[in-house]
This record gives sequence, C-alpha cells and structure tokens, in this order.
Amino acid sequence: MSRQKLMEMTQSLIDHAEAGTMELTDDVVAVPASDYTDEARFALETEKIFKRLPLMLAPSCELPEPGCYKAIDMAGIPVLVTRQKDGTAQAFLNSCTHRGNPVAQGSGNATRFTCGYHGWTFKNDGDLLAIASPKDFGTVDKAQFCLQKFPTLERAGLIWATLDPESALDIETYLCGYDEMLSHFGFDNWHLFDQRTIPGPNWKTAYDGYLDFYHLPVLHKDTFGADFFNQANYFAWGPHQRLSAPSKFVQKTGSDEQIDLTEISPQDWPIDALLQGVWTIFPHISIASFYGGGGRGAMISQLFPGKTVGESFTTQFYVMEHEPTDDAVRQGANDQFAFLKTVVADEDYTTGKRQHESLQSGLIEKVWFGRNEGGGQVFHQWVDRLIDADDAELDRIFASQKLDDQLEAAE
Ligand code: FES
Ligand SMILES: [Fe+2]
Repeated sequence: MSRQKLMEMTQSLIDHAEAGTMELTDDVVAVPASDYTDEARFALETEKIFKRLPLMLAPSCELPEPGCYKAIDMAGIPVLVTRQKDGTAQAFLNSCTHRGNPVAQGSGNATRFTCGYHGWTFKNDGDLLAIASPKDFGTVDKAQFCLQKFPTLERAGLIWATLDPESALDIETYLCGYDEMLSHFGFDNWHLFDQRTIPGPNWKTAYDGYLDFYHLPVLHKDTFGADFFNQANYFAWGPHQRLSAPSKFVQKTGSDEQIDLTEISPQDWPIDALLQGVWTIFPHISIASFYGGGGRGAMISQLFPGKTVGESFTTQFYVMEHEPTDDAVRQGANDQFAFLKTVVADEDYTTGKRQHESLQSGLIEKVWFGRNEGGGQVFHQWVDRLIDADDAELDRIFASQKLDDQLEAAE
C-alpha cells in the first residue's frame, strides 16, 4: 500500500518533468517578519510546539544495543534516551528525583546511572535502584521516585518522544501515516557513521531552507547547486512534508550514473529511486539522501531552538545503509559529510543569520513564499495552527489528517 503510494508520487514527478511543469499553490503568501524575531512568539513556539509535540530524538542506530544511552538538551529540557534490556527505547526527564541533578551526561552504554550529587542510582528503565545512606536519609517508597518517563515511540528506525509526561497526544496519530513511508528507507538496519552539532539562526529561518529547492542554484551555485533544478513538488502527511524535484532521472547508488525511470517498468523501480528528495518531519527534522562515493547514505538533520529567538542548533547524523568496510568507502562518506558541513554552515546558516539580523531591524514587515514554495507556506500555516490549538484538540487535528488521506485514497 505504501509502496504503491511511493510509486504514484514518482509517476507524478515524471509526468511533471515530461510536461515541464511543477505543482504550484494558489497564491503568493506573506508571513509577518515579526514571527521570526519576536521573543514572545518564540517562547510560545517553544512551549506549544517543542514542549508538547512529539520530537524525533534519535535515529535508532544511534542506540543500537540494550544499554546504549544519550543525554541531550531539547528546548531547555534535559532528556535521557536509553535502550532498555528488552530492546525498547525510552525517553526520560534527565533529572534526579532527589533534587534534580541530571543523572547522565553525553552518551555511552550503561545499565544504571548514579547521580553525581548524592549518589542515588537509577536503572536504565528509570527505576530507582538504591539511595545513598538509606538509614540516614529516612524512608522513601522507591516506586514513587523513578525517573519521569516521556511518551516514546520507535518507528521506521527513528525514536520519537513527547517532552510532556502528561501528554495525551498519541505519537502514532501525530505521524499521520508518514512513518509507514519513512519505513521504506529501512533505517532500523542502518549504521550511524558520524554526527556533529552546529549552531544556526532562528529555528524557522533554518527550517525554511530545508523546505525549498528554489534557492539551490543560487545560494549553492559554488558547491552543488549549479546544475540543480530549482523546482520541487510537495507531498504532505499532516504537517510532515516530502519535497522532490520533478524529474525522470535518479542517481544510481554508488556511482554518478543517472537512471532514466521511464526506461524501466514501474514494478522494477528500485526503492531508493522512490525515496528521492528531502523528507521533513515536523517540526524539526530533514532527511536528505546521498548515493555517491561512500555508498547509500542519508543526512538526518535535527534542529532545535536555542536560548534566544535568533539561535538554533542542528545535529547532523550521517547514516549509511551499510557500515563501510574499506577505506575508499569510508573516505567517500567522510568527504560527503565534510562537504555537507560547508554547505549547511557556510551557505545556508550564514545566510540565515544575515537574514535574521536584517529582519531584526524591524523595517521589513513581511517575508514572502511564492507559489513554487508550497512547503514553506504549509509549514508556517501549521506553526500558526498549532500554537493556537488547545491540548485537547491536538489528537483530533492529527487524526483528521490521516482520515483525509484515507478518503482521498478511496476516491
Ligand atoms: S540530586 Fe541526585 S542524589 Fe541528590
Ligand atoms: Fe540550502
């Protein structure tokens, strides 16, 4: 069913390429410049989006075995993600139930965490195992002092959690069926080759850049964009959007060769050909595939807001279908990953920072998204809609998206 959907999308990309067309929205849309610069708006986005919607915390391959863990700060919340004994992933508030000190730092493999302040020890399933000097401390019911759990779901080789222990929003509902599409990458069997975190501009300024091919031949003309199309068609599952260039050509894995899909029967289209383009996961993930020297790989960019409205951080995970076994492939992957830092840090985010400074002058009232920039239009509509929504409405909002899709499919 979902392969069928991927084939239909590919066919529509080919049809548009052959007709020399792309999908356009009805109108050019304006977004108030203050949406990017206003501190109060930024605080609202952090509260209503990052602290109450599911976030993709880690690719599964970052925690490949039981005992693996990582501690991260997400929008000001200290988070610990572990892979438990039974193989499931679980996210916790990384805050000791004695007096709040984080129980873990960095990443590694551990079955228990001892708090560095007074020595309380927790298992990696969050249970309080022991407190220090229990006779002196006084009686505690250990069951009442487990690490706080966040709702967590692992799907399609990616781990999501909602950083609100009381959240009633079902993560699967939130994904609107998009996880089924993403599962075709097979990320649960991929390998994490490398990762790094880089600073960037306002989170939406940064994210806009992942939703637009319009800028590729201009901003990236000196790196990769010179020969690149500036057109993209958009496909949406609720707020989650894929963008892909209308084209009948795809790059063959492990080579620079192009395949013409019209010369192959659709039943034989390789799966990576069906997954071309950029897959974004609202509100903060972008997945871009690469097929070159290092073998099949993808960069998963995970964006989160910084401490002020003009700052964000992006963790770039370079994941590979197969762990490189020889130096040439390893070198190819290293080169690709280094190149991606140049493109994102020196071109996208450097531009984003300049853009932000300019908007902060307060003299530009609006920014614009063209009919060819539907992804940005849809993204900002969702941000607006979700910061206005009550907690109780969230489940219904996303459930209705999936229903719309099903009705469309049945037509
Ligand atoms: S704060 Fe963790 S043991 Fe005291
Ligand atoms: Fe870019």
